Amino acid sequence: MHLCQPFKALVLAMALMMASGVDINKHEENMNSCPVIQCCAPGTNGLPGRDGRDGKEGPKGEKGDQGEGLRGLQGFPGKAGPQGTKGDQGPQGEKGQKGESATFDSLQRQVTALEKNIQTLQADISRHQKFFSFRWVKSVGKKTFMSTGTKDSFENGKSLCTKAGGGLACPHNHAENTALREILKDSEQAYLGMSDVQTEGKFLYLNGRPVTYTNWETGEPNNDENEDCVAMYDNEKWNDIDCSNSEMLIICEF
Ligand code: GLC
Ligand code: CA
Repeated sequence: MHLCQPFKALVLAMALMMASGVDINKHEENMNSCPVIQCCAPGTNGLPGRDGRDGKEGPKGEKGDQGEGLRGLQGFPGKAGPQGTKGDQGPQGEKGQKGESATFDSLQRQVTALEKNIQTLQADISRHQKFFSFRWVKSVGKKTFMSTGTKDSFENGKSLCTKAGGGLACPHNHAENTALREILKDSEQAYLGMSDVQTEGKFLYLNGRPVTYTNWETGEPNNDENEDCVAMYDNEKWNDIDCSNSEMLIICEF
């Protein structure tokens, strides 16, 4: 080992001082303050030291240019905004084509005519509905007998037939009597349009004229317990009977 001259001298001095009893610790400071590099020739390089601490944060950089990334998808439409204020009145429109009002009048006339036709048809339908609501129909000569199948008293029967536009059935001859009989089912009886309510024993048609044709059952009319009305049996024969019997079939004539 090669030692430099000053260091060699120091070693010698220390050895001398130790030998002479001098405390070398007092001189230790002086020894440490002596840089080794200054004391000897440079040796081989040591291992690299540890990385130093991070420096202070640098100043904020300038804003960069706008990037050119891909454009995103369009978002959903937003909510409708509030209603705007009413605009000014627009300019007057162009004059309409001539003749339009005439066409409208014509249409209105046609509509009115159609409405009238509908009313007439409705009335006809109503009349025919009443006509065909009868269960039995029998025509003889100019007369038609019809029944709804209703059984009722003399007064109610008269009312029903009058409302239907006819009258309570009343045969004026043998042909009509037979036709009327054909409407009756077995054991059924029907009121006839006549009575002797005004004068006992004097039968009159509903128009007040005296009865000209009769077909009494044997022994009738007997005015049994004051009978003022007349009913036909299912054998074509007649019997005077109580006017309030509600089991008589009502047959009308038209
Ligand atoms: C009998 C009598 C008849 C009378 C009737 C009254 O059938 O023969 O004359 O009108 O009873 O329900
Ligand atoms: Ca009788």
